[in-house]
Amino acid sequence: MDTIVLSHIHKNIKGKEILKDVNLEIKGSIGLLGPNGAGKTTLMRILTTLIDPSSGTIRAGQLLWENKTEVREHIGYLPQHFSMYKNMTIMECLNHLALLKGIDKGIRQDVIHSTLEEVNLLNVQSNKIRQLSGGMLRRVGIAQALLGNPKLLVVDEPTVGLDIEERVRFRSLLRKLGKNRNIVISTHIVEDIETTCDQICILKNGKVIKFGTKTEILSLVRGKVAEKSFLLDQVDLDSLRVISTKESGDKYIVRYFTTKGEDEYIVEPSLEDAYLYFIQEEKEI
Ligand SMILES: Nc1ncnc2c1ncn2[C@@H]1O[C@H](COP(=O)(O)OP(=O)(O)O)[C@@H](O)[C@H]1O
Ligand SMILES: [Mg+2]
Repeated sequence: MDTIVLSHIHKNIKGKEILKDVNLEIKGSIGLLGPNGAGKTTLMRILTTLIDPSSGTIRAGQLLWENKTEVREHIGYLPQHFSMYKNMTIMECLNHLALLKGIDKGIRQDVIHSTLEEVNLLNVQSNKIRQLSGGMLRRVGIAQALLGNPKLLVVDEPTVGLDIEERVRFRSLLRKLGKNRNIVISTHIVEDIETTCDQICILKNGKVIKFGTKTEILSLVRGKVAEKSFLLDQVDLDSLRVISTKESGDKYIVRYFTTKGEDEYIVEPSLEDAYLYFIQEEKEI
């Protein structure tokens, strides 16, 4: 698929500006990172043609997003709140959805089989939806999004509500899926996309505030993150822009943003640090 180019996307809902001049190029795996209310779901619904932007264009080569039916053939979508008919089995659900997607009867069983294999649900295909754990249900959601082998997979907040083990497993599934197709994953949790996505787009208040590779984003905060240990009774957290604190014996290890070039305390920034830095920076403008 050609690079998907979003140009000057604006979205107003009930007089409120939800997306403000979003410009983005989608190729490979992209992590859309932002706090709740940033506009991630709205952007994904526009990208998947479920809603129209108030203004702006989306295209991939000759393919224009006004041609919804054609665009939809290329997109698989796992919405934030995915659910299915509780009394159906996984197999029945996928059969039903494959039919709706217009997948030929002759190949339908093969397509479903290989999709279930890909998301590791083959051995539970006869289980009813109501019996599934959160992680399994999310994998059914991925399976339905993969039917028809879309060139772009769009996944909204994939790990919300999953327990730690399910989260880890689901991330590794997304990583695998992102290797051979375009994928956009939205989340407010850095770890969800840290090892999965080539590029990261930070969204805040409906605006793209940073877009680049992980290396590029990290390089922007290098030299700004420091770590220092203080005696418990000597630490004055109010004077520091604190990222995190750890207690260690009679000491506090404080990780913070520094502006003072304290070379001996500078540490390598993490993506989590960078995210926090830009989200806070934007707040102060
Ligand atoms: N249909 C709607 N009506 C009113 N407000 C909406 C609607 N959809 C989204 N919003 C508002 O737009 C903002 C962004 O929402 P959303 O795209 O869901 O953000 P995110 O997915 O990043 O949490 C929020 O303030 C939300 O309340
Ligand atoms: Mg959302």
